[in-house]
Amino acid sequence: MVVKTTPKRTVRILLVGDSGVGKTSLILSLVSEEFPENVPHKAEEITIPADVTPEQVPTNIVDFSLAEQTESDLNEQIRKASVVCVVYAVDDDDCIDRITSYWMPLIRQNHPDSSCPVVLVGNKIDLVEYSTIDGIFGIMEEFSEIETCIECSAKTLKNISEMFYYAQKAVLHPTAPIYSVEKAD
Ligand code: GTP
Repeated sequence: MVVKTTPKRTVRILLVGDSGVGKTSLILSLVSEEFPENVPHKAEEITIPADVTPEQVPTNIVDFSLAEQTESDLNEQIRKASVVCVVYAVDDDDCIDRITSYWMPLIRQNHPDSSCPVVLVGNKIDLVEYSTIDGIFGIMEEFSEIETCIECSAKTLKNISEMFYYAQKAVLHPTAPIYSVEKAD
């Protein structure tokens, strides 16, 4: 008897966020397991083979930089993503405000049915002695597509592999409600 199994789909993780929050550093820290002192504006797209990911699924990690790409590229990448990580710097209130004023509306514009899970990633936790998570919970209540949030540091490597694991998990084991009462009218 031949048992056919469907190959698991590729998970495409896109990192977005204001300039300088550390998107490229996070990707390069994951890959090289050390903090890169000098980073290009944009990391090359990275493919992680299934057998070295926790969920055994091939995973692409995609960086975005407005210094090298246009807003139309950004919209296209958001549409192609299976999960979007919105990165903010924990020491920068302005970029935290832009999660709700800019990034989440932009993601919704490209996925009007809120079908694309989002992970909020607070980077540069090495620079502060407080947590931003309490404030972030308010944002999570407003946008049900936000699956989870995590604080990390590309510099000290704290929670780096966990961050990418959460992103993978948000696609493979989403917890967001598939039926929204608000949309039922
Ligand atoms: P754009 O390409 O402009 O969109 O920026 P980016 O979000 O890719 O940020 P990038 O990785 O270029 O990092 C910006 C600056 O923040 C660099 O000077 C990094 O060294 C620094 N940086 C990145 N991550 C951390 C971190 O976890 N801690 C600290 N202290 N600095 C960091």
